Amino acid sequence: MPGKRWPATLAALVLTAGMAHAQDARLDDSRMFSTGEEAWNKVCSRCHSGHENSVGPNLLQGSYDEDIIRFFARHGSGPMPAFTAAMVDDTTLSQIAAYVIANHKEPAE
Ligand code: HEC
Repeated sequence: MPGKRWPATLAALVLTAGMAHAQDARLDDSRMFSTGEEAWNKVCSRCHSGHENSVGPNLLQGSYDEDIIRFFARHGSGPMPAFTAAMVDDTTLSQIAAYVIANHKEPAE
């Protein structure tokens, strides 16, 4: 009875469209972090601040540009996990990069 299958197909379509929409809304929704500094502190600094338990290099003492920071954040490297746009959106990532570049400090001898 082909006629009877329509409502279910339609319901599935509406549901799928609704879910896709909810996902889009979530990605452009209000950002998780209000500033680059906050995102840096919550997402990156535990591995990159150069304190004794930090596993990654101290980024504030390196020379990085935004492209390099973005590349590592999106792809990960060795023990560093990759961060998807759902975890750290593009705007936030630019602000993290701006924060790291603006707070650069020469390593103490
Ligand atoms: C769980 C710990 C961890 C977190 C969280 C983390 N990283 Fe890393 N990151 C590392 C490690 C370890 C390395 C060195 C990787 C290697 O040797 O291949 C690294 C390397 C890097 C490098 C390259 C440094 C160099 O001189 O080679 C950049 C840039 C970087 N991370 C940026 C970030 C940013 C931006 C964030 C936050 C979005 C972040 N990382 C979060 C662990 C982490």
